[in-house]
Order: sequence, then C-alpha cells, then structure tokens
Amino acid sequence: MLVSSENYLTVQSHYAGTLAAHYSWMFGGYNARLQQNRALLAMHLPRHPTSPQEPPHPSLQQQQQQQPPSSTSASPSPSLSLLPLAIDLGCGPGFQTIPLLEAGFRVLAVDASKGMLDELDAERIALNIDPTLITAVQDDMLNFRASVADATAATVVCMGDSPTHLASLHEVKQIIDDAFAVLAPGGGTLMLQFRDLTRPLEGTDRFVPVRSDNMTVFTCFLEWEIERDAAKTPPVEPDGSGRRVKVHDLVHVKKGNSTWELCKSWYHKLAMSTDWVARALTDAGFAQVRVAEPQHGMQLVIGIKA
Ligand SMILES: C[S@@+](CC[C@H](N)C(=O)[O-])C[C@H]1O[C@@H](n2cnc3c(N)ncnc32)[C@H](O)[C@@H]1O
Repeated sequence: MLVSSENYLTVQSHYAGTLAAHYSWMFGGYNARLQQNRALLAMHLPRHPTSPQEPPHPSLQQQQQQQPPSSTSASPSPSLSLLPLAIDLGCGPGFQTIPLLEAGFRVLAVDASKGMLDELDAERIALNIDPTLITAVQDDMLNFRASVADATAATVVCMGDSPTHLASLHEVKQIIDDAFAVLAPGGGTLMLQFRDLTRPLEGTDRFVPVRSDNMTVFTCFLEWEIERDAAKTPPVEPDGSGRRVKVHDLVHVKKGNSTWELCKSWYHKLAMSTDWVARALTDAGFAQVRVAEPQHGMQLVIGIKA
C-alpha cells in the first residue's frame, strides 16, 4: 500500500494505541451516533442517486475483503452493479457507511484503522447487512481514486471530522478533485463534515472534557502550532485554514484495584474554514456548493456535480 498522507502513520498509531477503543463510547455509544447520522444523511443524500449502468470497476472487485458470513441469513441482495455506489472516506466504525447501506447504496469504505474497520464489520453483522454490499479497505484515503472508475459514483462522503485528519490543504484539495472525477454527472454529491479549528482556543480553554463515566475520563488538549519554518511548513491562509493543531488525547481508565491508568497519545489535525472548503469545491468544478446548518459542532459542506 502506498502511504500518501503525511499524517497517515501517526493517525494509524494514535487510533491503534488510544482512540479506537474509546471512539464510539465518546459519542454516548454506537447507536446514539448512528441514529444522528441516519437523520443527517436522510436530509442531504441525493434523492434519486445515479445508478451507474456499468459493472463495478475491476480493482474495486479485487479489493473486496473476504467477509465472514453473517450469523443469521441476510436478505438476498439485488444485482450489485445496479446499485448506486457510495464512497466513505475515513469511514471509522461506520456511522455513515451503515446509513448509506440502509439507503440502498453499495459502499466502498476506506479507513486507516484496523480497529475501526473491525467495529464496522461487527456492526454490519449485528444489523444483518449483506456483506457483498460493502468493500471495506484498510488504506490511505488519498488512494481511493485508483479503485473507482471516473464518473461512476453517486456520492462521496468524508465525514465526522475525517477531513481534518489530512496533513495539508493540498491533501484536502486532492480528495475534492478526485471526488469530482469519480462522481457521476447529473447529481453526484460530495459531503465534507469537519470541525472548524481556525479560531485557536487559549489558556485552559484548550483542555476540553470529552466524556466521563465511573470507569473512564476522556480529556483532549489542543495546541495550535506556531509556524516555525515557513520554508518547510505549507502556507496558512489569512483565515487560519492550513494551520496544524496538535491534538493530545488523555484517557484515564479505572483499574480493578481502584487506581487509574492514564493512556495518552497525540496526532495532528488541520484547521480549515467552511469558506475555504466551499471555495475549493467551486474551484474543483462543483456546480452547486452549499454550507449546511452545523450539527454537534461540525460544519457540513456539500457539492453537487452538474
Ligand atoms: C474522527 S474519525 C471519523 C470516522 C467516521 N466517519 C465518523 O463519523 O465517526 C476519522 C477516521 O478517519 C480515519 N483516517 C484518518 N486519516 C486517514 C487517511 N489518511 N486514510 C484513511 N483513513 C484515515 C481514522 O482512522 C478514523 O477512523
């Protein structure tokens, strides 16, 4: 596998070492977050998704993971090639993948984290969803275009803050340009959802309580990096887009003998404004670009291909 994003390996080890084990819990459990995303996607997905008339791209078929059979019998799937294709970049445990499958798409789901993909597979099995409808790939999302023929996808989503995990605005532009290329004309839709980190927090406000219960206390510390060497770091836009934020996750977990263990690790996120993202979508060629109402502190920018 070719690693393209400069952040890929740090993100992968951060999720493996700290975040994947607590990710769904952070949102009040899997079902609560899934329900939010079902509602969000129902509002914004293309109503009559484009159905590509050709069979799936050969490389997409090759990449299909051997999925274990469902524990109970899944309902028979309609002919795969007639279903519209959705691509979920940075799919995590499937908070968008599952609603996309339920809405009648076949899904290419890409993520760096094996733990997250394992959780997605467990949820798919629990929900009795036909395994042939999903191609789950552990890969760098920047490589997805190699798996999909141009002008064949009904929708590309990169949501739940996945865009900010990329290392630079240049990498975000690559995702936007590649999404434009693979989307079918006449309504192909790109959805990017992210936290706007362009306004730095100061002092103790940088310590953000994420969630706690009697067994776990999750705190996040955010550090906006100063540009030290302009020649080495990509330029930052006047509105703060492009600035790197070092995100430290601090998780206290209660042990059996009533002591607490601290698990800590960090990764980088990228600041970007809705204005910058909307402009990048317009520059890529999207005919309609819309900024939706923010939900749960996240911005959503949607582009529709003419
Ligand atoms: C904040 S989570 C979002 C997951 C999911 N979309 C959601 O709504 O919860 C970000 C996900 O992106 C993945 N990720 C980050 N950088 C990536 C990259 N370059 N390629 C593939 N996956 C990546 C992480 O492993 C993680 O699962």
